[in-house]
Amino acid sequence: MNLENQIICADAVEVMRQMPDECVDMIMTDPPYGTNLNNGDLQSKLHVILSEGRRGAPRPIFNDGKEATPLFERVVAESKRVLKRGAVMCVCVSGGGGMPAPIYALWSLILCRYLHFIQMVIWDKGKIGLGWRYRTSYECILVASKGTPFAWYDKTLTVENIIRSYELGIPKIIPSANQHPSEKPEKLAEFFLRLHSKEGDLVFDPFCGSGSFLSCAKKMNRRYFGIDLEPSYVEMSIRRLREASAPLIQSQLSATEIGLNQQKLYGDD
Ligand SMILES: C[S@@+](CC[C@H](N)C(=O)[O-])C[C@H]1O[C@@H](n2cnc3c(N)ncnc32)[C@H](O)[C@@H]1O
Repeated sequence: MNLENQIICADAVEVMRQMPDECVDMIMTDPPYGTNLNNGDLQSKLHVILSEGRRGAPRPIFNDGKEATPLFERVVAESKRVLKRGAVMCVCVSGGGGMPAPIYALWSLILCRYLHFIQMVIWDKGKIGLGWRYRTSYECILVASKGTPFAWYDKTLTVENIIRSYELGIPKIIPSANQHPSEKPEKLAEFFLRLHSKEGDLVFDPFCGSGSFLSCAKKMNRRYFGIDLEPSYVEMSIRRLREASAPLIQSQLSATEIGLNQQKLYGDD
């Protein structure tokens, strides 16, 4: 299986089961949170209003209901196998409440079951987010590793466990109708890729969406491998990766990669 600068349209667990042991240097991912956010609720309506000036159809995300946590656990179990020793897995997850159980706590416990839990980093997204009463202004990134010592490439050892978007210039994304509804800023990935990976490393995102984390990896001279179940998001990723320029590694989407995705997208045998 060729993992070199590939994006595959398929189920993450199915693909991961075919990946060799200890082949990945870092995982940076943003799974469906299980909150059904884009199923026609306030957030999806706001996305549409802000982007088009009128209401449009909801844009649900696959597996964004009760099935999200069991799916996450299967991916973590496979991650334990495919990560190299000491390699780090960073997982975006919603902060706060709004669910029967706090998902950041549930997912932290799942990570503890399979990996060495390092830290919960708070991503302060800036002023006022969506919701009622306690309005959402932050998200979390859970950081775990396959054993210790874990990959750490910052020489200062003084990195805070809060990311303040306004200090680091991380843009707030309010997705337009033609963007992924849960797109994350590339600069968020940059923060973690700098800490836990080095040039030439293979960075893997099993829920790559529009490819923001993979694009960041390419720009930072890492190799990338991504999966998403939704063909239109895989197409977005391919476009984004084609445009992302890597200053040192001049890797481009190869003919085989495009062929592979066409096969997955359009069902050509
Ligand atoms: C929160 S979004 C990721 C957004 C991404 N970080 C970005 O910036 O565009 C989660 C993604 O997981 C994908 N997904 C859901 N279930 C999946 C599965 N079983 N295997 C692979 N991808 C899946 C969805 O299609 C969605 O694009």
